[in-house]
Amino acid sequence: MPLQTEGIVIKNGRIKSLYFILGIYCPPIAHQIKPGQFIMLKVSENGSPILRRPFSVYKSYPDSHPDKRRRGCLFLLYKIVGKGTQKMTTLRRDQKVNLIGPLGNSFSFAPLPSSSDIVLIGGGVGIVSLYPLAAALKDKKLSVFIGGKTRNDILCVEDFKKFNSIISIATEDGSLGFHGTVVDLFLSRIKTFKGNQGSYLYTCGPAPMLESLARAVKSKRFICQASLEARMGCGFGACWGCVVKTNDPKTPYQRVCKEGPVFSLEDIVWE
Ligand SMILES: Cc1cc2nc3c(=O)[nH]c(=O)nc-3n(C[C@H](O)[C@H](O)[C@H](O)COP(=O)(O)OP(=O)(O)OC[C@H]3O[C@@H](n4cnc5c(N)ncnc54)[C@H](O)[C@@H]3O)c2cc1C
Ligand code: FES
Repeated sequence: MPLQTEGIVIKNGRIKSLYFILGIYCPPIAHQIKPGQFIMLKVSENGSPILRRPFSVYKSYPDSHPDKRRRGCLFLLYKIVGKGTQKMTTLRRDQKVNLIGPLGNSFSFAPLPSSSDIVLIGGGVGIVSLYPLAAALKDKKLSVFIGGKTRNDILCVEDFKKFNSIISIATEDGSLGFHGTVVDLFLSRIKTFKGNQGSYLYTCGPAPMLESLARAVKSKRFICQASLEARMGCGFGACWGCVVKTNDPKTPYQRVCKEGPVFSLEDIVWE
């Protein structure tokens, strides 16, 4: 069940260029959150912006975690893109913050047949929501594709190195790894994966990236779950501000915050 609760900021610092990590001590959410779920954070105690902002939980440490100092903590990895995220950078250690979570559905990943390919494709901050999934799949062999506009937008590489993973990097300006989009890079390797329901693909990133990926994998019959990044008002299903069109005839419009954010990629109608 989602809770509206208070957390205490334990750290907030820049990791590079426009990217920051915010740590919050909030045991009720850290204890429950599943890979792919998100929180809505009030970035300003009083005043603008009034609406909370949605963030994936990058790392979380439940009460049973072996590292006692981290128990009850969760971490967000965020990019400054506007007023709310700019305001977030001013949050200071020991400050109280209000948050709602865990929200949305989660990635489904068990049990995956041992012979299957597991492919993770993240664009920009989209890679954040794939990190907890990779941690949950840490015994499996993972093919991880990380993309961004420039080398400064390539995130979490060291984190994914901890797993049994093959990491491939793409930048649109060619400043690191493959020169092109992360979807182009994946397509250049697509023949190495089985397809035909033997490959599980998990992805998160901007809509144009997901749309081109949907087109690319359509005929290959990959089993593909995508976490969508819609703009959100409430975050818990009340305002219908985040709907996406699907090809489900019974419920053609579904809420990213409630029925998602994770959808089967083939169910999304791109408009
Ligand atoms: C489920 C979910 C998980 C997310 N996880 C993360 C995360 O882990 N790290 C992170 O940095 N960001 C994440 N986001 C995006 C984040 O919520 C937005 O960047 C943030 O709300 C922007 O707030 P702002 O006030 O700074 O920007 P605004 O001033 O509201 O907007 C600035 C610009 O960003 C664009 N924008 C704002 N929100 C979104 C959005 N949701 N999707 C696409 N474009 C948007 C606007 O169109 C505008 O051009 C997530 C979004 C969703 C829906
Ligand atoms: S953000 Fe309000 S219904 Fe999804």
